[in-house]
Amino acid sequence: MYFKQRSHTCGELREEHIGQEVVLNGWVDTRRDLGGVIFIELRDRYGLTQVVFEPHFNEQAHHDGKVLRSEYVVSIEGIVRRRPEGTANENLATGNIDVLVNKITLLNVAKTAPFQIQDNIDVHEDLRLKYRYLDLRRPRMQQNLILRHKMYQITRKYFDANNFIEVETPVLMKSTPEGARDFLVPSRMHKGKFYALPQSPQQYKQILMVSGLDRYFQVVKCFRDEDLRADRQPEFTQIDVEMSFVDQEQIFTIVEGLMKQFFAEVWSRDLELPLPRLTFDQAMERYGSDKPDLRFDLEMKTLNGVFAQSEFRVFKDVVNSKGVISGFVAPGCGEYTRNQLDVLTDFVKKLGAGGLIWIRVKEEGLESPTMKFLTPDEQKNLTDTLEAKPGDLLLLLAGARIKTLNLMGALRLEMARRLELIKPDSAPKLLWVVDFPLFEWDEDTKRFYAMHHPFTSPRLEDIPLMETDLGQVKARAYDLVLNGSEIAGGSIRIHDAELQAKMFEALGFTEEDAKEKFGFLMNAFQYGAPPHGGVAFGFDRLAMIFAGEQSIREVIAFPKTASGMSLMDESPSSVDEPQLKELHIRLRGEQQ
Ligand code: AMO
Repeated sequence: MYFKQRSHTCGELREEHIGQEVVLNGWVDTRRDLGGVIFIELRDRYGLTQVVFEPHFNEQAHHDGKVLRSEYVVSIEGIVRRRPEGTANENLATGNIDVLVNKITLLNVAKTAPFQIQDNIDVHEDLRLKYRYLDLRRPRMQQNLILRHKMYQITRKYFDANNFIEVETPVLMKSTPEGARDFLVPSRMHKGKFYALPQSPQQYKQILMVSGLDRYFQVVKCFRDEDLRADRQPEFTQIDVEMSFVDQEQIFTIVEGLMKQFFAEVWSRDLELPLPRLTFDQAMERYGSDKPDLRFDLEMKTLNGVFAQSEFRVFKDVVNSKGVISGFVAPGCGEYTRNQLDVLTDFVKKLGAGGLIWIRVKEEGLESPTMKFLTPDEQKNLTDTLEAKPGDLLLLLAGARIKTLNLMGALRLEMARRLELIKPDSAPKLLWVVDFPLFEWDEDTKRFYAMHHPFTSPRLEDIPLMETDLGQVKARAYDLVLNGSEIAGGSIRIHDAELQAKMFEALGFTEEDAKEKFGFLMNAFQYGAPPHGGVAFGFDRLAMIFAGEQSIREVIAFPKTASGMSLMDESPSSVDEPQLKELHIRLRGEQQ
């Protein structure tokens, strides 16, 4: 079909174009028929322009314009004019002009869309995902993708300027079942064998350091078969980074420099460097989370000292068993009703707490069913330590350390939500969390796991503890946290074969196990591995926060649902029998 190429986009025309003959291509956004004159807003990625079909101006065009409906694709030729007095639209960049049409070419018709192509629609996300191509026509989604694009460019420019080399690593690799579950790909040529999709290019990037690449980065897809949440997808994008001959500080400098660039170019905000740091222990104790949201206070305090001599059974048991008593002040909540307090108690109980201790602070003293168990001294000490004022509410939990701190952290977030402490204009809070434990105990399997991954180096001063007290060993690992979201994580790696062997031993791997799982990396390390370390950013999470969205699905063109489905192309899906046969796969319960 012949049509004239556009002379301008739909977001381009201004008063300076008045009188010009123009050609616009785009979609019919809205259509109004006012007493014989047809108004259409024509839309493309760049904006909206009103085009007008007037019978007196051009009868044929007006006649042809009658068939147009929403989402039809058209090319129009016409003349730019100033909009008549009183009809300018200040909300539109092109709002002072419109285009009088003298020719229209209908390029395509469209079925009625299942939802309107505009922002602030109220439709179920599933419908948006099924018709993602229409959803992505909405300006907000286009802005999100454009923002993402901008962030790729900032990233590549930044790393290139800092001497990093982008290297692609394989998407089909060996399964290494540590961390999340692998997605597997059956091999046709090797019966019964499988590739895995990389959970991250971790081992390849370390090998690239052995190869002498020195500074590597990659914008890369990673795949993890894990339960999904608003900030998790089965396939997601990382900015993956690795550097040789560095320690933590050099990696921090590189990461902070990129974040400064993002803040400046995306948010037009200055980011003060160096970023603040909290140790994992501090973050847990003060905020009950290894990804603390510092946009609001509600800081927790450990109260074991206050209750060291307490005769109150609950506190006494916790103090004796090296658990924790933790509390924070909910300012101005001293008038919470019994009902409101029951709701908070239920909230923590659902997460696994035994109960919640609440205390109303009155002019005349503390008021709570728990008060009869506390001495006047303890009450005063508690008030002083928490710096509580009349009208406040104190919330306390006592129990096993990490579990209780986590529960307090969840309660802290819940109170911030109830008190609306996070405002749309709250200043963003970016910080490092450092000195993570190297190992994490798992109650179910009764063994230690690597908290990060098995190549993470312990703090050198903690190496002797690997023989005596694994729980106390701290890692040279760090996370970057923005507004309570973990946006990057990394570590200094083990490059020494002996230390690596110790690590595998601590994890309960035999030498055979380690060789089987990580043999190629171990082999490479025998040929001169430099000291190295790195980091990986969760690109989707970063884009989500920079876009001001609540879900990473809003910044991914074609995301999966919470149950891992792609509603548009209906995957995962069944495959034909011959396809399975070729892969030497028989589904259980099926006849051959
Ligand atoms: P890690 O597993 O911490 O580290 O991942 C790095 C960052 O990736 C993001 N992320 C995710 N984003 C969306 N969906 C997911 N399912 C998901 N899982 C993780 C997070 C996280 O901070 N190889 C190491 C990095 C290293 O040590 O250099 C790694 O992958 O924002």
